[in-house]
Amino acid sequence: TGLAENLPQESIDSPAFGFAFDIDGVLLHEKNPIPGATEALRLLDRYRIPYIMLTNGGGKRESERVADLNEKLRIKITTESFVQSHTPFQELLEGPNSLRDKTILVTGSDYEKCRDIILHYGFRNVLTPADIFAAQPSVFPFQAVNKAEEKGLVSLPKPIFVKTPTEPNSTELAKHLKIDAMFVLNDPRDWALDIQIFADLLLSHQGYMGTYSPRNGNRSVANCGWQQDGQPKLYFSNSDLLWSASYHLPRFGQGAFQYALAGIWNRITDGHELQRSCIGKPFAETYRFAERKLNAHWKKNRRITKNNAATELKSVYMIGDNPESDIAGANGYQSENGTEWVGVLVETGVWNKDMSVAFTKETEPKRIEKDVKSAILWALRREG
Ligand code: G3P
Ligand code: MG
Repeated sequence: TGLAENLPQESIDSPAFGFAFDIDGVLLHEKNPIPGATEALRLLDRYRIPYIMLTNGGGKRESERVADLNEKLRIKITTESFVQSHTPFQELLEGPNSLRDKTILVTGSDYEKCRDIILHYGFRNVLTPADIFAAQPSVFPFQAVNKAEEKGLVSLPKPIFVKTPTEPNSTELAKHLKIDAMFVLNDPRDWALDIQIFADLLLSHQGYMGTYSPRNGNRSVANCGWQQDGQPKLYFSNSDLLWSASYHLPRFGQGAFQYALAGIWNRITDGHELQRSCIGKPFAETYRFAERKLNAHWKKNRRITKNNAATELKSVYMIGDNPESDIAGANGYQSENGTEWVGVLVETGVWNKDMSVAFTKETEPKRIEKDVKSAILWALRREG
């Protein structure tokens, strides 16, 4: 296979290093496996070297994505070894600012799949822009992209909009639909409707649809991106401007939607920056979430004989195709266990050496390899 002679002696003890694999541009181009990926992953399985899938992709339940991956790459992983862009949103169910019982507006490439994901996580009140459009079609004076969504799928309490003064009193507000937070799970499909409703909510009085927050006086527009308790209203799961799909040139990702909304917000608020919470690679929250999952998976499945076996992984090799997300995240993440994250860039995705894009301190990889198989081989040699 070209890999076996470089593997450490089939150790009795599972080695204390592992891998984090980006998916798009490293293992797959959309539905198409990248050559060598399956063979390389199977070898790690044979030597019980732990790995996790760490993707900025999303829009399906983790279980559905894992089933897709197992079928396409002919491997056998479980959701224990899988983190996608919005997986860490589950942490918003807990704690003093839990959003479990709040009303969440969710969007992505398929409204109903997004609603299903967030309900499946445990959030209890989940709406989509199609529900709002169905309840009040005049909110968006153009044809709904998807005829099926004209009817909406969740009937909202009516009326959900009543023309009120900018400072409505509590009786008037009670007639309004209140959205407490907006989640973006993957690449939105209907940017026009989504941006219109997101902007309405960000400019609203505390998330009440149909109201308008004064732009002067004691509440600056900048606060409109935040709840009264300082919690963000807007949550993005991925900031990738570009990603590597089947087309030969990179495609716009969820980050492009963010820039579109931020540009419109900047214009309608005379220069305010869009306040939002972002997770996904390169953000530390996602790497910490992934490191905990990889460690737990390793401890559950490793084989150890010595009683002084390592308690945490010594190194994690982050194999990615995007310097701005995969590599920048590995370079910037300060592990809570002192684990070394090593960013390895491959040339099968967003980046290739013919591009004239210079690396920065943040995006410079420890190593560049042509593909995932070569990247694994380099890491195994480095581990000796
Ligand atoms: O939407 C997917 C894209 O943002 C990148 O996914 O697997 O390369 O992190 P991935
Ligand atoms: Mg990628």
